[in-house]
Amino acid sequence: MKDIIIREQKILSIIDEVMEYLRITQNKIDLIIEKKGEIDLVTEADKGSEKRLIDFILKNFPHDSILGEEGSNIIGTSDYKWIIDPLDGTTNYAHKIPLFSISIGIENLVSKEIEFGLIALPFFNDVYIARNKNGSFKNKTQLKISSSSSLIESLTCTGFPYNRRDEIERLLKNLKIFLLNTRGIRRTGSAALDLAWVADGKFDIFYETNLNPWDMSAGSIIIKEAGGVVSKMDGSEFDVYFPEILASNPTLHKEIISNFKL
Ligand code: IPD
Ligand code: CA
Ligand code: CA
Repeated sequence: MKDIIIREQKILSIIDEVMEYLRITQNKIDLIIEKKGEIDLVTEADKGSEKRLIDFILKNFPHDSILGEEGSNIIGTSDYKWIIDPLDGTTNYAHKIPLFSISIGIENLVSKEIEFGLIALPFFNDVYIARNKNGSFKNKTQLKISSSSSLIESLTCTGFPYNRRDEIERLLKNLKIFLLNTRGIRRTGSAALDLAWVADGKFDIFYETNLNPWDMSAGSIIIKEAGGVVSKMDGSEFDVYFPEILASNPTLHKEIISNFKL
């Protein structure tokens, strides 16, 4: 436990600087430097944020493993693995929309559990953190999942993966279910931000298929520690390396999985 607290304190000491870097860089023109696919962009800031985080982690914890979206894959010898999305919400970022985030989870490679999560929202200057069995916090305030017990009074959030062409039938089927049975659907464009806002009680439900570990690692523990439930779409046990998530409070979660085949 002591080891994870040291890591939490260290990463918190650099997060303001990385948030500031992302806020400033977004004002620049010609941000896009690469395309991973037809609609999957990479900006200068994705790379710049990852470099700042990785250099800092390697300097402070040279034996840790790191998985970062922009190509970092370092196999260390310690028990800890950092799973990082240096900029979640790249399409928003490239279009000058302020909904984007930084997502950092730490997995304990022995227990296979995510033991720490941090999601930073630079535009709001909000930092969400959670550590195993220690609760979730936004800045210094403890978080509590939504208390909604009625689907029709609940706000759903989702996202659409880049491979939407291959997934279109399932996407539309699930959209129809939540559109017809809940108060409405939102799509912010940053899955980590969506998960933070579920932990914060703003959204009652979030689901998405075809996500990556770096989109979900931090959000999954922040939601659990706020009293929520995360699972695969069929309600079975959440696995950060399995590409989907259904997140909600325990009552709604039960209702969703017992009534719908997602
Ligand atoms: C994407 C965002 C988006 C989600 C996509 C993700 P990126 O991550 O989280 O909200 O719908 O599935 O890939 O590419 O901006 O890091
Ligand atoms: Ca992402
Ligand atoms: Ca990203």
